[in-house]
Amino acid sequence: MPQARPPITQNPDIRYLGRLLGDVIRIYGGERLFKQTEYIRAASVDRARGVAPAEGVDTGLDALTLDDTLAFVRGFMLFSMLANLAEDRQGVAAEPGADVASAVAKLGKDGIKPADIVKLLEKALVVPVLTAHPTEVRRKSMIDHRNVISELMALRDTGAVETAQGEPIDEAISRQIALLWQTRPLRRERLFVRDEIDNALSYFRDIFMPVLPGLYARWDRVVGQRIPGFLKLGTWIGGDRDGNPFVQADQLRLALNRASGSTLRFYMEALHELGAQLSISSELAAVPASVKDLAAASGDDAPSRRDEPYRRAISGIYARVAANYEALTGQAAPRAARLKGKPYGSAAELRSDLATLGRGLAMEGNGVLSSGGGLGRLIRAVELFGFHLATLDMRQNSAIHERVVAELLKVAGVEPDYLALDEEARVTLLRRELANNRPLGSRFAQYSEETATEMAIVEAAAEAHRMYGPASITHYLISKAESVSDMLEVNILLKEAGLWKAAENGDPPIAPIMAVPLFETIADLENAPGVMADYFGLPEIGAVVRARGHQEVMIGYSDSNKDGGYLTSTWGLYEASLALAPVFEQAGVAMQLFHGRGGAVGRGGGSSFQAIQAQPPGTVQGRIRITEQGEVIAAKYGTPESARINLEAVTSAALLASLEPERLPASDNERFTAAMTKISTLAFKAYRDLVYETPGFREFFREMTPIQEISGLKIGSRPASRTKSNRIEDLRAIPWVFSWAQARVMLPGWYGVGQALKEFGDDALLRDMAQGWPFFRASMANMEMVLAKSDLEIASHYLPLVEDKTVGDAIFKRIREGWDLAHDMLLTATEQPYLLATNPTLDASIRLRLPYIEPLNLLQVELLKRHRAGEGDPRISEGIQLSINAIATALRNSG
Ligand code: PGA
Repeated sequence: MPQARPPITQNPDIRYLGRLLGDVIRIYGGERLFKQTEYIRAASVDRARGVAPAEGVDTGLDALTLDDTLAFVRGFMLFSMLANLAEDRQGVAAEPGADVASAVAKLGKDGIKPADIVKLLEKALVVPVLTAHPTEVRRKSMIDHRNVISELMALRDTGAVETAQGEPIDEAISRQIALLWQTRPLRRERLFVRDEIDNALSYFRDIFMPVLPGLYARWDRVVGQRIPGFLKLGTWIGGDRDGNPFVQADQLRLALNRASGSTLRFYMEALHELGAQLSISSELAAVPASVKDLAAASGDDAPSRRDEPYRRAISGIYARVAANYEALTGQAAPRAARLKGKPYGSAAELRSDLATLGRGLAMEGNGVLSSGGGLGRLIRAVELFGFHLATLDMRQNSAIHERVVAELLKVAGVEPDYLALDEEARVTLLRRELANNRPLGSRFAQYSEETATEMAIVEAAAEAHRMYGPASITHYLISKAESVSDMLEVNILLKEAGLWKAAENGDPPIAPIMAVPLFETIADLENAPGVMADYFGLPEIGAVVRARGHQEVMIGYSDSNKDGGYLTSTWGLYEASLALAPVFEQAGVAMQLFHGRGGAVGRGGGSSFQAIQAQPPGTVQGRIRITEQGEVIAAKYGTPESARINLEAVTSAALLASLEPERLPASDNERFTAAMTKISTLAFKAYRDLVYETPGFREFFREMTPIQEISGLKIGSRPASRTKSNRIEDLRAIPWVFSWAQARVMLPGWYGVGQALKEFGDDALLRDMAQGWPFFRASMANMEMVLAKSDLEIASHYLPLVEDKTVGDAIFKRIREGWDLAHDMLLTATEQPYLLATNPTLDASIRLRLPYIEPLNLLQVELLKRHRAGEGDPRISEGIQLSINAIATALRNSG
C-alpha cells in the first residue's frame, strides 16, 4: 500500500521573510509587478500540489514584458536566498552527532580513551582547502546583505524588538531586503585573481581566524587536555594555475602578502587587547624571572607600567610583531608601536614569548588566568596560522610540466627530445638530474613564455619560504597525473629554485614542497596504487617520503564522474583509496588523501560528515584534506556559527573514521565489495554508452542545456575551458555538471545507476548494502537528493532547443527511462515508499522550493529560444544570466 507523503509545513521564518520581500517588491517594483509575481507563484504552487493540471494552464509568464521578466526573476531569486537563510537558521546544516563531543563520547563507548585520541592527533592533519572554483554565482555584496539579515533574525529570536542602535528590527530587515532588491545581482566586470584572493581572505580573516582558536578551546575541554593543532587551513587561490593563465608569480606573491598582512594585524589587535587586560602588578602577584626578563628586554620603561611586567612584555612583543608586519608587507603597522623592536625570526619565536607569559599566569590560582582566555587563544592562533595564515598550494597540469622540463633539458644540452622518450627513459633521465644540485636553467638563455612563467612561479615559492616560513607552501599538485615521471618532473622544477636538494653524505634529499599527484580519470585511479608503489620504490623518493613521514595523493571526484558516471566514480575513488593503503604501509609512510570535491553530487558533493565516515577502513588515520569551493564556502563558513558547525563536522568525522572499530563483518565486506564491483562495471557501461558512444549526444548536450550561456557568467577568473575543442572529454567538469543542473536533468548525479542496479538483479543484497554499509548508504543518500531536485517534466521543456528532433527525442527517452529506473531502484534498495521519506527535513526543503524554480526554468527556456534565434536585445542575455543565477541559488548548488 503506497504511503501518502505528509503535507509540508512552511517554516515560519520563510513566511515572515517572504512577506517582507513581497512588501519590498510592491513598494519598489509597483503593484502590477507584485500582483504578477503573486499570480505566478500561486499558479506554480497549485500545480506542484496537483491542485491545477500541469498542462494548459495560464502560468502567468506570457504576460511578462522583458523588463518585467528581469524583475520577476530577481524577485524569485531573492525569495530563494531568503528561504535558504531561514533554513540554515533552523539548523538544517547541523547533522546529529556531527560534533567532537559526540564523537569522543561515541568512541568512549568503544573503549577508545582521550589519550588514544591525543595520540592520533599528534600525527593528524585535517585541512579544509578553499579554492576559487567558479560556482558561486552570487556577488559578495549580496552575500553580505544576506548575512546582515541573518544576524538581525538571530536578534529577533532573542525577543528583542530593536537593534542595538535603537531601530525596530522589522524595519532593519526590510531595509536590508530593499537593499538586496536594488543591488545588481550579476557581475558586469570580469573577475580577477585578486578579487578571488580578497574574497577568500574575508573568510579567513572574519571567520576562520577568530573562530578556530575558540573551537580548539572547546575541544581541549572535551578531551580533557590541550590537544595538538591538527586542524589547519589551506587555500589554492593564487597558486592554482591549472587552466588559469592569469595565476602567475605576482598573484602568488599577492596572495601570500595579503594573507600575511591579515594575520599579523590580527595578532597586533589581539596583543593590544591583551595589553589592556593583563594589568597584573608585580606587587600583587608572583611573577617568574622569565616574564621579568621579557619585560626588561622590551625596553618599555614608562613609569606608569613599572610594576606591570606583563604589559611591558606585551609592549615589546607588539613592537616585534609590528616590525615583522613592516618587513613583510612594506607598510607601517596600523597602530604604530611605541617601542622599536627587532622582527621575530619565525612564528615559533613569537609563540615561545607568548608561552612564557602563559607559564607566568599559570603559577598561581589554579590556572584561572592562564587556561583559555585571550592569551590562550592567541597562542593557539600563532600555532595554527604562523605568519602565513593558510598553506597555499600550487597546482599545474602535468602536460605543462612535461613541456617545461623538455625545454629546460633541451636548452641545457642534456636531452634534445624529452617528449619523445618513453616512461622508463624519462624516469632514468630525471633521476639522474635529481641526484645532483646543478640547476638546468641558465640566466642567459631565452626560454618560451610558458617556461619562463613556470620558472618564475617556483622562484616565487622559494622566496615565500624565506619570507613566511616553510609552512606557507607545502604541496604542489599535479593535475591529470598518471605516471611516476609526472611527479619527478615537478621535483625537477622545484630543484631549479632550490626546493629540492639532492642526497648528500648519506642524508636523504630535502624537498620542503611535496609533489602530489592528482588522479582523476577512472583509468588513472585504477593505476594509482601501481604508480605510487613505483614512485616509493625509487630509493631517493623513498628516502624523502620516509623522512617526511607522509605523502599525499589527491583524488578528483568531478573528472572521474564525467569520465565514468556517478557510481563508477565513487567506487573508483573508494577502491583506489583502499588499494593505496597497503602501498603506503609497505613504504612505511602515512597516507594523506586529498579529496577534490565540489558542492554538487556529480562533483562529489553531499554531507562531508557522511562522506568522511564512508571512507574505506584504514584510509583516513587522522590525515585528510578536502576542497571547499564556490557556493559551498558561503554556505558552510558564511557566519561564525555555521563555520563552527561545519568544522565540528569534519573534525568529528575524521576522528570517527580514524578510530572507530570496523563494524562491518568481513563476510559482508566481501559480499558487498564483490557486488559493488559488478554494479560499477554495469553502471560504467550504461553511462559511457549514453555519453560517449551515442551519436549526436555532444550536440544534444550543447543545445539542450545552457552550457554556452554559462560560459558567459562572470563568476571566476579562469577561462571556462582549457581548450577550444567541444568534446565532452575536454570540457571542464564544472560547466558539465552546472549545465545539467540548470536544465534540471542533473544527469551526472545518477545516470547509469538505475540500469546497473536493475541488471545486477539481487534486490535483497542491495537492501543489505543500503542498511549496513556506510559507503553504499552515503552513495544512495546523495543520489536521492539529486533525484529529488531533478525534474524530467521540467527538463522536457528544454527539448525543443535541440535542433535534430529525432535524435533529441531518442536521447531524452533514454534519459527519462534511466531516471525512472534510478528512482525505482533507489526506493527498492532503501525500502522507502517515496524519495526522502526518511529525511523529512530535506524533503520539505526541496518540495517547498520546487514551485519557485519551475517558472524560472520555463522563462529560461523562452529566453534561450529567443537568444539562439538571434534576437539581439541585451535584456535577453541578461535575463538568461539572471535565470541561471536564480536557479543555481534555488537549487543551493550549481556545479
Ligand atoms: P578542475 O576542478 O577542473 O579545476 O580540476 C574540477 C571540479 O572541481 O569540478
